[in-house]
Amino acid sequence: MIKKAVLPVAGLGTRFLPASKATPKEMLPIIDKPLVQYAVEEAVNAGINEIIFIINPEKNSIKKHFNMNEEIESKLINSGKTDIAKKLNPEIFTNVTFYYVNQEEQNGLGDAILHAESIVNNEDFAVLLPDDLFISKKSCLSQLIDIYNKKKSSVIAVNKIDRKNIHKYGVIQSSNITDNIINIEDIVEKPSAEDAPSDVAACGRYILSSTIFNHLKSVTRDKNNEVQLTDAIKSLISDEKVLACLYKGEKFDCGSKEGFVHATIALALRDESISEDIKKIIQEII
Ligand code: UTP
Repeated sequence: MIKKAVLPVAGLGTRFLPASKATPKEMLPIIDKPLVQYAVEEAVNAGINEIIFIINPEKNSIKKHFNMNEEIESKLINSGKTDIAKKLNPEIFTNVTFYYVNQEEQNGLGDAILHAESIVNNEDFAVLLPDDLFISKKSCLSQLIDIYNKKKSSVIAVNKIDRKNIHKYGVIQSSNITDNIINIEDIVEKPSAEDAPSDVAACGRYILSSTIFNHLKSVTRDKNNEVQLTDAIKSLISDEKVLACLYKGEKFDCGSKEGFVHATIALALRDESISEDIKKIIQEII
């Protein structure tokens, strides 16, 4: 059973400056909910009950966001606004334990995950990158958990990428790439379009064996002195089976401006309370 999830949110979010100067980019809202809450809800709905945030000291608003706010809650309830109170302190978080670990220096995603080692201990665990917003009938993490429950090995979410963008991702190599469950033979961080072993790349959801921590400790840092998760997964493949799941659903890269705006429009058009107005506004603009 996968019960623990690591959410690395300590990055500097430079692509979203100046918005991310005082507000963590993970707290920027898609409509009325911060990006990070979509990922936490995905995890909790998939059965996770321990969330380990890797934050930096500038990101205390994330802590505040997931703490219960009883004062405002009782004010809302006393004035008859029970529905709004439920939005303030969502019921599904009641039995969830939130941990916060500081990553003092931003030495990469792999280094951030390594900070969770003492809390994760020897259990297999999930990693969710809140920048990637997944919308699907069965959530991306649940799709991974289904495979994990059958195969009991690490499994990472992958999707097809346009060749022109492949240099931004960790790209997998496999001989059964068209199947739903893929056996990963190799994974390469940010290859050029010519060198990429396929057009299928890791996207921000993973279930990892706890032995990944040893690999994160032993991989060589990249030219920017960062520990790359992809390099640790590559090293894990030499010891253990690592599978990939071809994700079925929509994915928005909200770490980029285009992806963030795309997600906002897509979700606004599905929100019954505003969709008609938004459609009119878009038609007028066009
Ligand atoms: P990104 O590279 O997308 O995020 O990392 P970033 O570094 O914050 O953004 P830019 O590129 O400067 O705009 C993917 C995830 O890993 C976390 C980020 O917070 C994000 O959720 N991360 C990245 C860390 O927690 N620590 C790091 O050292 C680097």
